[in-house]
Amino acid sequence: MSDQAKPSAHRFPPFTDLPAGALRLVQITDPHLYADPENRLVGLKTQESLDLVVEQVKQRLLPVDLVLITGDVVHDSTPTGYQRFRRTIESLDAPAHCIPGNHDKSEVLGKWLDSGAFNTAPCVRKGGWALIMLDSTIPESAFSHLPEEQLRHLERCLEANRDRHIMICLHHQPVPVGSTWMDTMAVDNPEEFFAIVDRYPNVRAILFGHIHQEFESERNGVRLMGTPSTCIQFTPKKTDFGLDELPPGYRWIALLPDGEVRSGVERLAEMPAGLDLNSWGYV
Ligand SMILES: [Fe+2]
Repeated sequence: MSDQAKPSAHRFPPFTDLPAGALRLVQITDPHLYADPENRLVGLKTQESLDLVVEQVKQRLLPVDLVLITGDVVHDSTPTGYQRFRRTIESLDAPAHCIPGNHDKSEVLGKWLDSGAFNTAPCVRKGGWALIMLDSTIPESAFSHLPEEQLRHLERCLEANRDRHIMICLHHQPVPVGSTWMDTMAVDNPEEFFAIVDRYPNVRAILFGHIHQEFESERNGVRLMGTPSTCIQFTPKKTDFGLDELPPGYRWIALLPDGEVRSGVERLAEMPAGLDLNSWGYV
């Protein structure tokens, strides 16, 4: 029961030997697209990087039952960026569930990613599982807070799904990941969040984006999982901003009927061209 980062606890090849009724999910997070597909984030073309990730997902993981989009979809919050993201993800041919990150504008995300195969539903029931989607953002801020309305939503969904296994999804990390600068942006009221979560022994996992790196831990038997961005990566356990040379990635998740969670991170074979490793930050 440690909140410290540690290597992935379970290394299964994706989606092998799954029992009947298991759900196959892929998490795509922090693509940071722009209106202009040629635009770069610290040197990296984010659309090109997302295209490469989605192509690898198609080759290795399909079919999937759900795509989880955990925020920072569009860096400049433009409708054009969301429209192109939608077209890119549609090629995975699965329902996509979306929550905003600190770089998104919720109303713009909701306009373009809440129809057809895309939705922003706050609770998703599938098989013996319920996925609770939380908005951890503060408008116009990179910091994070779960307001009363989100905490009550969490409690209501947990109460209504006592007979299901639960995975909670949000953008920001609810526990420290060990990077001083990054942890200033963690959820700032985790004690209120966990006071609710701890009352429900059917919560199996908490999934998040934002940290642009792989993270695995466990708290009171609940698996905590953070996932690489589809573009730039942050170096783990740094005091200040630092870019990692690891390639972009994504996470596969198998939710089994008995409540077991199998998951792992996969990455591209190499970093797409252009990343400026000497950058001291980004806007
Ligand atoms: Fe991000």
